Amino acid sequence: MPLSRSISLTRFLIEEQRAHQHINADLRLLIEVVARACKTIAIAVGKGDLGGLLGEAGSGNVQGEAQQKLDVLSNEILLEANAWGGHLAGCASEEMDDPHPIPDVYPKGNYLLLFDPLDGSSNIDVNISVGTIFSVLHCPDGVTQPRAEHYCQPGAMQVAAGYTVYGPSTVLVLTLGHGTHVFTLDRELGSFVLTRRDVQIPAQTREFAINMSNQRHWEEPTQRYIADLLAGKDGPRGKDFNMRWVASMVADVHRILTRGGVFIYPWDRKDASKPGKLRLMYEANPMAFLVEQAGGKATTGRDRILEVMPTALHQRVPVFLGSRDEVDEATRYHRDFDAAK
Ligand code: AHG
Repeated sequence: MPLSRSISLTRFLIEEQRAHQHINADLRLLIEVVARACKTIAIAVGKGDLGGLLGEAGSGNVQGEAQQKLDVLSNEILLEANAWGGHLAGCASEEMDDPHPIPDVYPKGNYLLLFDPLDGSSNIDVNISVGTIFSVLHCPDGVTQPRAEHYCQPGAMQVAAGYTVYGPSTVLVLTLGHGTHVFTLDRELGSFVLTRRDVQIPAQTREFAINMSNQRHWEEPTQRYIADLLAGKDGPRGKDFNMRWVASMVADVHRILTRGGVFIYPWDRKDASKPGKLRLMYEANPMAFLVEQAGGKATTGRDRILEVMPTALHQRVPVFLGSRDEVDEATRYHRDFDAAK
């Protein structure tokens, strides 16, 4: 049900802090700082061609991907916004090989922030939704200069996660471990306003999202699962499925949070050095946390994403997430295949 336009993100966080004590002043500040940075990114994205910010930056990231100018700018906006507040021990980003230390001139806090500053960047130049994804972890006790291994905690350890989608409206979706909540940017007021509390993803769906052009590179159980969806009413699933693929995970996941569906980026053998595409620490984990908090599920096709023990900051992971019953079904195809081997 749409809420009255009176609950700002600030008020929501203060009331959560009072009601549940699961957030403290530093975590509240962290979320507000990230939200403020996202507003700045939204302005830059919204300028489009007028801002001179479209196109490639002429550099590459640790994944070997060409960086767009807006990837680089969004990364700088998040780093600058989070440097001086005293709430972070460090941060890490898709766009940086190594974790970024908090400058010595500023006080340090107890949280680690990980982010994909601009997800879906192949969509920037064509004016399709892109977004920012973030994950918050505790810095291990006694660690003052966090290194990559200190960030490598399973997703179940996240204290908060969220994304902002820069679409026709700018929407921030947030979990602090007590439900998933949606805030819409009121552009006149310049503040995020709570518009959906405790989102629930429908358990069943007739819609899936996958990049079909990779089909020949998938493993057998993924091939079988998708073939059965495509067979529709005449196949073993006995119903027709629709397909959507935005190629911005934020936009695809936002659709699923709104009306259900299953989002899949499976393991594939397209490039042996990069099995699959999505990154565990700042894409799969925060999205899995948000989806689970909304009653959905998120697996690698075999295991719960939030229980994957990371071994590297930029590691990749297969992703199946969304409507609970459909993720169970997809996971069953992979587990049955393994069991029959
Ligand atoms: P990036 O972080 O480089 O912008 O990657 C986008 C991700 C994700 O948002 C999207 O679901 C997927 O890559 C799209 O992949 P394809 O190019 O295979 O469609």
